[in-house]
Amino acid sequence: MADRYLRLTGTAPGRFLTRRLGLPQPAALTRWSAERPALDGGLLHLTAGRSALDLAPVLARTGIGPAGSGRTAAVVLDATGVRDVEALAEVHAALHPVVRSVASSGRVVVLGAPLDPADHHQAAAQQALEGFTRSLGKEIGRGRTVNLVRLTDAAAAESTLRFLLSPKSAYVSGQVIEVGADREPTAADREPTSADPDRPLSGRTALVTGAARGIGEAVAETLARDGARVVVLDVPQAEQDARRVAERLGGSALLLDMTSADAGARIAEALPDGLDLLIHNAGITRDRRLVNMPAERWISVLEVNLASVLRTTDALLKDGTLKRGGRIVATASIAGIAGNAGQTNYGASKAGVVGLVRSLAPRALDEHGVTVNAVAPGFIETKMTAAVPLFIREAGRRMNSLAQGGLPADVAETTAWLAHPASGAVNGQVVRVCGQSLLGA
Ligand SMILES: NC(=O)c1ccc[n+]([C@@H]2O[C@H](COP(=O)([O-])OP(=O)(O)OC[C@H]3O[C@@H](n4cnc5c(N)ncnc54)[C@H](O)[C@@H]3O)[C@@H](O)[C@H]2O)c1
Repeated sequence: MADRYLRLTGTAPGRFLTRRLGLPQPAALTRWSAERPALDGGLLHLTAGRSALDLAPVLARTGIGPAGSGRTAAVVLDATGVRDVEALAEVHAALHPVVRSVASSGRVVVLGAPLDPADHHQAAAQQALEGFTRSLGKEIGRGRTVNLVRLTDAAAAESTLRFLLSPKSAYVSGQVIEVGADREPTAADREPTSADPDRPLSGRTALVTGAARGIGEAVAETLARDGARVVVLDVPQAEQDARRVAERLGGSALLLDMTSADAGARIAEALPDGLDLLIHNAGITRDRRLVNMPAERWISVLEVNLASVLRTTDALLKDGTLKRGGRIVATASIAGIAGNAGQTNYGASKAGVVGLVRSLAPRALDEHGVTVNAVAPGFIETKMTAAVPLFIREAGRRMNSLAQGGLPADVAETTAWLAHPASGAVNGQVVRVCGQSLLGA
Protein backbone atom coordinates (compact mmCIF):
# COMPACT_ATOMS: atom_id res chain seq x y z
CA MET A 1 0.00 0.00 0.00
CA ALA A 2 2.94 2.31 0.72
CA ASP A 3 3.73 4.82 -1.99
CA ARG A 4 7.41 4.00 -2.53
CA TYR A 5 7.77 6.46 -5.39
CA LEU A 6 6.70 9.34 -3.11
CA ARG A 7 9.34 8.22 -0.62
CA LEU A 8 11.97 8.08 -3.39
CA THR A 9 11.24 11.62 -4.58
CA GLY A 10 11.55 12.74 -0.96
CA THR A 11 15.29 11.96 -1.07
CA ALA A 12 17.87 14.17 -2.81
CA PRO A 13 19.15 11.47 -5.22
CA GLY A 14 15.60 10.34 -5.97
CA ARG A 15 14.55 13.90 -6.73
CA PHE A 16 17.56 14.42 -8.98
CA LEU A 17 16.95 11.21 -10.89
CA THR A 18 13.20 11.61 -11.37
CA ARG A 19 13.61 15.24 -12.42
CA ARG A 20 16.22 14.27 -15.02
CA LEU A 21 13.83 11.65 -16.36
CA GLY A 22 10.96 14.15 -16.47
CA LEU A 23 8.87 12.05 -14.06
CA PRO A 24 6.19 13.45 -11.69
CA GLN A 25 7.44 15.27 -8.61
CA PRO A 26 4.99 14.68 -5.77
CA ALA A 27 5.67 16.76 -2.66
CA ALA A 28 5.05 15.22 0.77
CA LEU A 29 1.86 16.95 1.89
CA THR A 30 1.54 18.62 5.27
CA ARG A 31 -1.53 17.19 6.96
CA TRP A 32 -3.30 18.09 10.19
CA SER A 33 -1.89 16.73 13.43
CA ALA A 34 -2.44 17.80 17.04
CA GLU A 35 1.15 19.07 17.04
CA ARG A 36 0.76 20.98 13.75
CA PRO A 37 -2.86 22.10 13.61
CA ALA A 38 -2.27 25.16 11.40
CA LEU A 39 -0.44 26.04 8.20
CA ASP A 40 3.14 27.08 8.72
CA GLY A 41 3.18 30.78 7.82
CA GLY A 42 0.88 33.73 7.33
CA LEU A 43 -1.99 34.82 5.13
CA LEU A 44 -1.99 37.36 2.33
CA HIS A 45 -5.38 38.96 1.69
CA LEU A 46 -5.70 40.47 -1.81
CA THR A 47 -8.60 41.97 -3.73
CA ALA A 48 -9.53 42.20 -7.41
CA GLY A 49 -12.46 44.39 -8.46
CA ARG A 50 -14.61 46.32 -6.01
CA SER A 51 -15.61 43.94 -3.25
CA ALA A 52 -18.48 44.52 -0.83
CA LEU A 53 -17.46 41.56 1.32
CA ASP A 54 -16.64 42.09 5.01
CA LEU A 55 -13.84 39.56 4.93
CA ALA A 56 -11.20 40.83 7.35
CA PRO A 57 -12.96 39.82 10.62
CA VAL A 58 -13.66 36.35 9.23
CA LEU A 59 -10.08 35.84 8.08
CA ALA A 60 -8.89 37.03 11.49
CA ARG A 61 -10.78 34.12 13.05
CA THR A 62 -9.37 31.44 10.76
CA GLY A 63 -6.35 30.92 12.98
CA ILE A 64 -3.78 32.07 10.45
CA GLY A 65 -2.21 35.49 10.98
CA PRO A 66 -1.20 38.05 8.34
CA ALA A 67 1.90 37.06 6.36
CA GLY A 68 3.60 40.46 6.77
CA SER A 69 7.24 40.06 5.79
CA GLY A 70 7.31 36.42 6.90
CA ARG A 71 6.53 33.17 5.12
CA THR A 72 3.33 33.13 3.04
CA ALA A 73 1.36 29.96 3.70
CA ALA A 74 -1.87 31.10 2.06
CA VAL A 75 -3.29 33.70 -0.29
CA VAL A 76 -6.94 34.67 -0.31
CA LEU A 77 -7.94 36.63 -3.39
CA ASP A 78 -11.32 38.30 -3.01
CA ALA A 79 -12.56 38.47 -6.61
CA THR A 80 -16.27 38.74 -5.75
CA GLY A 81 -16.29 42.25 -7.23
CA VAL A 82 -14.95 41.16 -10.64
CA ARG A 83 -17.80 42.04 -13.02
CA ASP A 84 -16.11 42.22 -16.42
CA VAL A 85 -13.10 41.17 -18.44
CA GLU A 86 -11.22 44.38 -17.59
CA ALA A 87 -11.44 43.57 -13.88
CA LEU A 88 -10.04 40.10 -14.57
CA ALA A 89 -6.73 41.84 -15.26
CA GLU A 90 -6.67 42.62 -11.56
CA VAL A 91 -6.71 38.88 -10.81
CA HIS A 92 -3.54 38.52 -12.82
CA ALA A 93 -2.03 41.66 -11.30
CA ALA A 94 -2.75 40.47 -7.76
CA LEU A 95 -1.52 36.89 -8.02
CA HIS A 96 1.24 37.03 -10.63
CA PRO A 97 3.78 38.66 -8.27
CA VAL A 98 3.01 36.49 -5.23
CA VAL A 99 2.35 32.94 -6.43
CA ARG A 100 6.00 32.00 -6.40
CA SER A 101 6.33 32.99 -2.74
CA VAL A 102 3.54 30.71 -1.49
CA ALA A 103 5.14 28.03 0.68
CA SER A 104 5.05 24.30 -0.11
CA SER A 105 1.72 22.73 0.93
CA GLY A 106 0.35 26.30 0.90
CA ARG A 107 -3.08 27.45 -0.20
CA VAL A 108 -4.54 29.76 -2.80
CA VAL A 109 -8.23 30.44 -2.23
CA VAL A 110 -10.09 32.55 -4.78
CA LEU A 111 -13.40 34.01 -3.70
CA GLY A 112 -16.01 34.54 -6.39
CA ALA A 113 -19.63 35.64 -6.57
CA PRO A 114 -22.62 33.63 -7.84
CA LEU A 115 -23.15 34.04 -11.58
CA ASP A 116 -25.66 36.81 -12.31
CA PRO A 117 -28.27 35.52 -14.80
CA ALA A 118 -29.18 39.12 -15.66
CA ASP A 119 -25.63 40.22 -16.48
CA HIS A 120 -23.70 38.06 -18.94
CA HIS A 121 -20.56 40.17 -18.56
CA GLN A 122 -20.49 39.49 -14.83
CA ALA A 123 -21.30 35.80 -15.45
CA ALA A 124 -18.50 35.51 -18.00
CA ALA A 125 -15.98 37.14 -15.68
CA GLN A 126 -17.03 35.02 -12.70
CA GLN A 127 -17.03 31.80 -14.70
CA ALA A 128 -13.55 32.77 -15.89
CA LEU A 129 -12.41 32.42 -12.28
CA GLU A 130 -13.28 28.74 -12.44
CA GLY A 131 -11.03 28.06 -15.41
CA PHE A 132 -8.36 30.20 -13.83
CA THR A 133 -8.50 28.34 -10.51
CA ARG A 134 -8.44 24.90 -12.09
CA SER A 135 -5.54 25.84 -14.38
CA LEU A 136 -3.48 27.34 -11.57
CA GLY A 137 -4.15 24.20 -9.52
CA LYS A 138 -2.67 22.09 -12.30
CA GLU A 139 0.51 24.12 -12.61
CA ILE A 140 1.29 25.38 -9.11
CA GLY A 141 3.03 22.24 -7.77
CA ARG A 142 4.91 21.68 -4.47
CA GLY A 143 1.84 20.31 -2.73
CA ARG A 144 0.04 23.64 -3.00
CA THR A 145 -3.72 23.68 -3.59
CA VAL A 146 -6.01 26.15 -5.37
CA ASN A 147 -9.77 26.33 -4.78
CA LEU A 148 -12.64 28.68 -5.64
CA VAL A 149 -15.40 29.55 -3.17
CA ARG A 150 -18.51 31.30 -4.50
CA LEU A 151 -20.21 33.21 -1.75
CA THR A 152 -22.34 36.22 -0.88
CA ASP A 153 -21.77 36.33 2.86
CA ALA A 154 -18.31 36.09 4.40
CA ALA A 155 -19.50 35.01 7.87
CA ALA A 156 -21.52 32.10 6.47
CA ALA A 157 -18.38 30.88 4.72
CA GLU A 158 -16.20 30.93 7.83
CA SER A 159 -16.15 27.16 8.40
CA THR A 160 -15.30 26.65 4.71
CA LEU A 161 -12.45 29.16 4.80
CA ARG A 162 -11.13 27.66 8.02
CA PHE A 163 -11.05 24.25 6.34
CA LEU A 164 -9.44 25.42 3.11
CA LEU A 165 -6.87 27.52 4.97
CA SER A 166 -5.75 24.61 7.13
CA PRO A 167 -3.71 21.42 6.69
CA LYS A 168 -7.03 19.52 6.84
CA SER A 169 -7.68 20.24 3.15
CA ALA A 170 -4.30 18.90 1.95
CA TYR A 171 -5.80 16.72 -0.81
CA VAL A 172 -8.64 19.04 -1.90
CA SER A 173 -7.67 21.07 -4.94
CA GLY A 174 -9.28 22.44 -8.08
CA GLN A 175 -12.70 22.54 -6.41
CA VAL A 176 -15.50 25.05 -6.81
CA ILE A 177 -17.54 25.28 -3.63
CA GLU A 178 -20.73 27.31 -3.40
CA VAL A 179 -21.75 28.64 -0.02
CA GLY A 180 -25.34 29.81 0.42
CA ALA A 181 -26.11 28.61 -3.10
CA ASP A 182 -29.76 27.68 -2.65
CA ARG A 183 -30.87 30.43 -0.31
CA GLU A 184 -29.56 33.48 1.50
CA PRO A 185 -27.57 32.41 4.59
CA THR A 186 -29.45 32.90 7.85
CA ALA A 187 -28.22 33.75 11.34
CA ALA A 188 -28.15 30.01 12.12
CA ASP A 189 -25.58 29.46 9.37
CA ARG A 190 -23.26 31.75 11.26
CA GLU A 191 -23.96 29.87 14.46
CA PRO A 192 -20.95 30.01 16.71
CA THR A 193 -19.41 26.63 17.34
CA SER A 194 -19.70 24.85 20.67
CA ALA A 195 -17.96 26.25 23.73
CA ASP A 196 -14.83 24.27 22.88
CA PRO A 197 -13.70 25.15 19.31
CA ASP A 198 -11.51 22.03 19.25
CA ARG A 199 -14.58 19.83 19.78
CA PRO A 200 -17.22 21.47 17.59
CA LEU A 201 -19.29 18.28 17.39
CA SER A 202 -19.58 17.66 21.12
CA GLY A 203 -23.09 16.66 22.10
CA ARG A 204 -23.78 15.32 18.59
CA THR A 205 -24.30 11.75 17.52
CA ALA A 206 -22.80 10.53 14.26
CA LEU A 207 -23.67 7.33 12.42
CA VAL A 208 -20.97 6.25 9.96
CA THR A 209 -21.84 3.35 7.68
CA GLY A 210 -19.07 0.97 6.63
CA ALA A 211 -16.90 2.26 9.48
CA ALA A 212 -15.18 -1.00 10.45
CA ARG A 213 -12.23 -0.17 8.21
CA GLY A 214 -10.86 2.08 5.45
CA ILE A 215 -12.27 5.53 4.85
CA GLY A 216 -15.25 4.95 7.16
CA GLU A 217 -12.98 4.13 10.07
CA ALA A 218 -11.02 7.35 9.48
CA VAL A 219 -14.27 9.35 9.29
CA ALA A 220 -15.47 7.89 12.59
CA GLU A 221 -12.11 8.68 14.15
CA THR A 222 -12.11 12.28 12.94
CA LEU A 223 -15.70 12.95 14.01
CA ALA A 224 -14.86 11.49 17.44
CA ARG A 225 -11.80 13.74 17.60
CA ASP A 226 -14.15 16.66 16.98
CA GLY A 227 -16.32 15.59 19.91
CA ALA A 228 -19.07 13.48 18.32
CA ARG A 229 -20.37 10.28 19.83
CA VAL A 230 -19.91 7.80 17.02
CA VAL A 231 -21.94 4.79 16.02
CA VAL A 232 -19.84 2.43 13.90
CA LEU A 233 -22.17 0.64 11.51
CA ASP A 234 -21.01 -2.31 9.44
CA VAL A 235 -22.18 -5.71 8.25
CA PRO A 236 -22.35 -8.52 10.84
CA GLN A 237 -19.38 -10.26 9.14
CA ALA A 238 -17.21 -7.26 10.14
CA GLU A 239 -18.23 -7.50 13.80
CA GLN A 240 -14.75 -7.84 15.23
CA ASP A 241 -13.36 -4.81 13.40
CA ALA A 242 -16.48 -2.73 14.05
CA ARG A 243 -16.33 -3.41 17.78
CA ARG A 244 -12.59 -2.69 17.87
CA VAL A 245 -13.10 0.71 16.18
CA ALA A 246 -16.10 1.58 18.37
CA GLU A 247 -14.23 0.71 21.53
CA ARG A 248 -11.17 2.71 20.54
CA LEU A 249 -13.33 5.76 19.87
CA GLY A 250 -15.56 5.40 22.91
CA GLY A 251 -18.60 4.85 20.66
CA SER A 252 -20.83 1.90 19.91
CA ALA A 253 -21.11 -0.64 17.10
CA LEU A 254 -24.26 -1.34 15.10
CA LEU A 255 -24.08 -4.54 13.07
CA LEU A 256 -26.43 -4.20 10.19
CA ASP A 257 -26.52 -4.75 6.46
CA MET A 258 -27.61 -1.42 4.97
CA THR A 259 -29.38 -3.23 2.16
CA SER A 260 -31.87 -4.92 4.48
CA ALA A 261 -35.36 -3.53 3.98
CA ASP A 262 -35.73 -2.54 7.65
CA ALA A 263 -32.29 -0.87 7.98
CA GLY A 264 -33.84 2.56 8.61
CA ALA A 265 -36.16 1.21 11.31
CA ARG A 266 -33.32 -0.63 13.01
CA ILE A 267 -31.12 2.46 13.03
CA ALA A 268 -34.00 4.49 14.50
CA GLU A 269 -34.53 1.82 17.14
CA ALA A 270 -30.82 1.84 18.07
CA LEU A 271 -30.85 5.65 18.37
CA PRO A 272 -33.91 6.59 20.42
CA ASP A 273 -32.41 10.02 21.18
CA GLY A 274 -32.00 10.72 17.47
CA LEU A 275 -29.11 11.35 15.15
CA ASP A 276 -27.26 14.51 14.10
CA LEU A 277 -24.82 13.29 11.47
CA LEU A 278 -25.65 10.59 8.95
CA ILE A 279 -22.55 9.60 7.01
CA HIS A 280 -23.23 7.23 4.13
CA ASN A 281 -19.82 5.74 3.51
CA ALA A 282 -20.48 2.00 2.99
CA GLY A 283 -19.80 1.05 -0.59
CA ILE A 284 -18.65 -1.85 -2.74
CA THR A 285 -17.17 -2.43 -6.18
CA ARG A 286 -17.87 -5.44 -8.42
CA ASP A 287 -15.91 -4.46 -11.52
CA ARG A 288 -16.42 -6.00 -14.98
CA ARG A 289 -16.91 -4.53 -18.40
CA LEU A 290 -20.60 -4.35 -19.26
CA VAL A 291 -20.30 -7.14 -21.84
CA ASN A 292 -19.08 -9.51 -19.11
CA MET A 293 -21.18 -8.25 -16.24
CA PRO A 294 -23.79 -10.59 -14.85
CA ALA A 295 -26.95 -8.96 -13.46
CA GLU A 296 -26.00 -9.87 -9.85
CA ARG A 297 -22.95 -7.63 -10.02
CA TRP A 298 -25.00 -4.75 -11.32
CA ILE A 299 -27.76 -5.23 -8.76
CA SER A 300 -25.52 -5.63 -5.70
CA VAL A 301 -23.52 -2.46 -6.41
CA LEU A 302 -26.63 -0.38 -7.13
CA GLU A 303 -28.25 -1.79 -4.01
CA VAL A 304 -25.40 -1.04 -1.55
CA ASN A 305 -24.14 2.22 -3.04
CA LEU A 306 -27.41 3.86 -4.02
CA ALA A 307 -30.73 2.14 -3.24
CA SER A 308 -29.93 1.61 0.45
CA VAL A 309 -28.69 5.20 0.74
CA LEU A 310 -31.96 6.51 -0.71
CA ARG A 311 -34.12 4.19 1.40
CA THR A 312 -32.48 4.83 4.76
CA THR A 313 -32.18 8.57 4.14
CA ASP A 314 -35.91 8.76 3.39
CA ALA A 315 -36.78 6.70 6.46
CA LEU A 316 -34.58 8.64 8.89
CA LEU A 317 -35.80 12.02 7.62
CA LYS A 318 -39.43 10.95 7.65
CA ASP A 319 -39.51 9.53 11.17
CA GLY A 320 -37.56 12.50 12.57
CA THR A 321 -34.58 10.40 13.75
CA LEU A 322 -32.33 12.84 11.90
CA LYS A 323 -32.67 15.98 13.96
CA ARG A 324 -32.96 19.61 12.86
CA GLY A 325 -29.51 21.11 12.32
CA GLY A 326 -28.45 17.66 11.17
CA ARG A 327 -26.10 16.77 8.35
CA ILE A 328 -26.10 14.10 5.69
CA VAL A 329 -22.82 13.39 3.93
CA ALA A 330 -22.99 10.78 1.19
CA THR A 331 -20.05 9.21 -0.61
CA ALA A 332 -19.83 9.59 -4.36
CA SER A 333 -16.63 8.98 -6.34
CA ILE A 334 -14.80 10.56 -9.23
CA ALA A 335 -15.82 7.39 -11.10
CA GLY A 336 -19.38 8.68 -10.82
CA ILE A 337 -18.32 12.00 -12.35
CA ALA A 338 -15.81 10.99 -14.99
CA GLY A 339 -16.77 7.35 -15.56
CA ASN A 340 -14.32 4.48 -15.45
CA ALA A 341 -13.81 1.44 -17.68
CA GLY A 342 -15.05 -1.70 -15.95
CA GLN A 343 -17.22 0.29 -13.57
CA THR A 344 -20.53 0.90 -15.34
CA ASN A 345 -22.34 -0.38 -12.25
CA TYR A 346 -20.20 1.56 -9.77
CA GLY A 347 -20.12 4.74 -11.91
CA ALA A 348 -23.92 4.60 -12.22
CA SER A 349 -24.37 4.14 -8.48
CA LYS A 350 -22.03 7.00 -7.56
CA ALA A 351 -23.51 9.35 -10.16
CA GLY A 352 -26.85 8.45 -8.59
CA VAL A 353 -25.52 9.70 -5.25
CA VAL A 354 -24.69 13.03 -6.89
CA GLY A 355 -28.25 13.25 -8.25
CA LEU A 356 -29.68 12.44 -4.83
CA VAL A 357 -27.62 15.17 -3.17
CA ARG A 358 -28.45 17.87 -5.70
CA SER A 359 -32.17 17.19 -5.64
CA LEU A 360 -32.70 16.54 -1.95
CA ALA A 361 -30.44 19.27 -0.54
CA PRO A 362 -32.74 22.31 -0.87
CA ARG A 363 -35.84 20.39 0.24
CA ALA A 364 -34.16 18.68 3.19
CA LEU A 365 -32.93 22.06 4.40
CA ASP A 366 -36.35 23.69 4.01
CA GLU A 367 -38.40 20.89 5.46
CA HIS A 368 -36.06 19.29 8.00
CA GLY A 369 -33.28 21.83 8.63
CA VAL A 370 -30.74 19.24 7.43
CA THR A 371 -27.96 19.82 4.89
CA VAL A 372 -27.09 17.20 2.27
CA ASN A 373 -23.67 17.08 0.63
CA ALA A 374 -21.33 14.52 -0.90
CA VAL A 375 -17.66 13.81 -0.84
CA ALA A 376 -16.27 12.35 -4.05
CA PRO A 377 -12.97 10.62 -3.33
CA GLY A 378 -10.40 10.11 -6.05
CA PHE A 379 -7.58 7.62 -5.54
CA ILE A 380 -7.38 7.00 -1.78
CA GLU A 381 -4.82 4.61 -0.28
CA THR A 382 -6.97 1.83 1.23
CA LYS A 383 -7.26 -1.94 1.02
CA MET A 384 -9.67 -1.36 -1.87
CA THR A 385 -7.04 0.46 -3.96
CA ALA A 386 -4.13 -1.74 -2.75
CA ALA A 387 -5.85 -4.60 -4.58
CA VAL A 388 -5.78 -2.71 -7.90
CA PRO A 389 -3.16 -4.04 -10.39
CA LEU A 390 0.20 -2.22 -10.16
CA PHE A 391 0.09 -0.21 -13.41
CA ILE A 392 -3.46 0.98 -12.94
CA ARG A 393 -2.65 1.77 -9.32
CA GLU A 394 0.37 3.85 -10.32
CA ALA A 395 -1.69 5.71 -12.92
CA GLY A 396 -4.38 6.41 -10.31
CA ARG A 397 -1.82 7.73 -7.89
CA ARG A 398 0.03 10.01 -10.28
CA MET A 399 -2.76 11.31 -12.52
CA ASN A 400 -3.67 14.26 -10.36
CA SER A 401 -2.18 17.67 -9.70
CA LEU A 402 -0.53 16.52 -6.46
CA ALA A 403 0.88 13.39 -8.19
CA GLN A 404 0.00 11.08 -5.30
CA GLY A 405 -2.90 9.22 -3.72
CA GLY A 406 -4.93 10.67 -0.88
CA LEU A 407 -5.31 9.17 2.57
CA PRO A 408 -8.55 8.15 4.31
CA ALA A 409 -7.93 11.08 6.67
CA ASP A 410 -8.31 13.49 3.73
CA VAL A 411 -11.87 12.28 3.09
CA ALA A 412 -12.52 12.28 6.84
CA GLU A 413 -11.44 15.92 7.27
CA THR A 414 -13.65 16.98 4.37
CA THR A 415 -16.57 15.14 5.96
CA ALA A 416 -15.88 16.82 9.31
CA TRP A 417 -16.01 20.26 7.65
CA LEU A 418 -19.36 19.44 6.00
CA ALA A 419 -20.63 18.07 9.34
CA HIS A 420 -19.55 21.17 11.27
CA PRO A 421 -22.34 23.09 13.02
CA ALA A 422 -21.21 26.28 11.25
CA SER A 423 -21.45 24.70 7.77
CA GLY A 424 -25.21 25.22 7.49
CA ALA A 425 -24.81 27.35 4.34
CA VAL A 426 -22.88 24.58 2.56
CA ASN A 427 -25.63 22.54 0.96
CA GLY A 428 -26.00 20.45 -2.19
CA GLN A 429 -22.26 20.42 -2.81
CA VAL A 430 -20.23 17.56 -4.26
CA VAL A 431 -16.68 18.07 -3.11
CA ARG A 432 -13.99 16.01 -4.71
CA VAL A 433 -11.16 14.80 -2.53
CA CYS A 434 -8.93 13.80 -5.38
CA GLY A 435 -5.84 16.04 -5.49
CA GLN A 436 -7.47 17.53 -8.61
CA SER A 437 -7.59 14.28 -10.52
CA LEU A 438 -7.06 14.64 -14.24
CA LEU A 439 -10.09 12.40 -14.70
CA GLY A 440 -13.36 14.27 -14.95
CA ALA A 441 -14.19 17.95 -14.87
N1 LIG B 1 -10.72 3.91 -1.71
C1 LIG B 1 -10.95 4.74 -2.73
O1 LIG B 1 -10.02 5.12 -3.45
C2 LIG B 1 -12.34 5.27 -3.00
C3 LIG B 1 -12.50 6.12 -4.10
C4 LIG B 1 -13.75 6.64 -4.37
C5 LIG B 1 -14.82 6.31 -3.55
N2 LIG B 1 -14.65 5.47 -2.51
C6 LIG B 1 -15.84 5.16 -1.69
O2 LIG B 1 -15.56 5.40 -0.31
C7 LIG B 1 -16.30 4.51 0.50
C8 LIG B 1 -15.36 3.73 1.43
O3 LIG B 1 -14.38 3.08 0.63
P1 LIG B 1 -13.19 2.21 1.25
O4 LIG B 1 -12.07 2.28 0.27
O5 LIG B 1 -12.93 2.62 2.65
O6 LIG B 1 -13.85 0.75 1.16
P2 LIG B 1 -13.64 -0.52 2.09
O7 LIG B 1 -14.06 -1.68 1.26
O8 LIG B 1 -12.30 -0.54 2.72
O9 LIG B 1 -14.73 -0.31 3.26
C9 LIG B 1 -16.10 -0.33 3.02
C10 LIG B 1 -16.83 -0.78 4.28
O10 LIG B 1 -18.24 -0.79 3.99
C11 LIG B 1 -18.79 -1.96 4.55
N3 LIG B 1 -20.00 -2.35 3.83
C12 LIG B 1 -20.09 -2.84 2.57
N4 LIG B 1 -21.37 -3.15 2.28
C13 LIG B 1 -22.10 -2.84 3.36
C14 LIG B 1 -23.49 -2.93 3.67
N5 LIG B 1 -24.36 -3.45 2.80
N6 LIG B 1 -23.91 -2.52 4.89
C15 LIG B 1 -23.04 -2.03 5.79
N7 LIG B 1 -21.71 -1.91 5.56
C16 LIG B 1 -21.25 -2.33 4.36
C17 LIG B 1 -17.69 -3.01 4.40
O11 LIG B 1 -17.89 -4.10 5.27
C18 LIG B 1 -16.45 -2.19 4.73
O12 LIG B 1 -16.16 -2.21 6.11
C19 LIG B 1 -17.09 3.63 -0.47
O13 LIG B 1 -18.37 4.17 -0.65
C20 LIG B 1 -16.29 3.73 -1.75
O14 LIG B 1 -17.08 3.47 -2.87
C21 LIG B 1 -13.44 4.94 -2.21
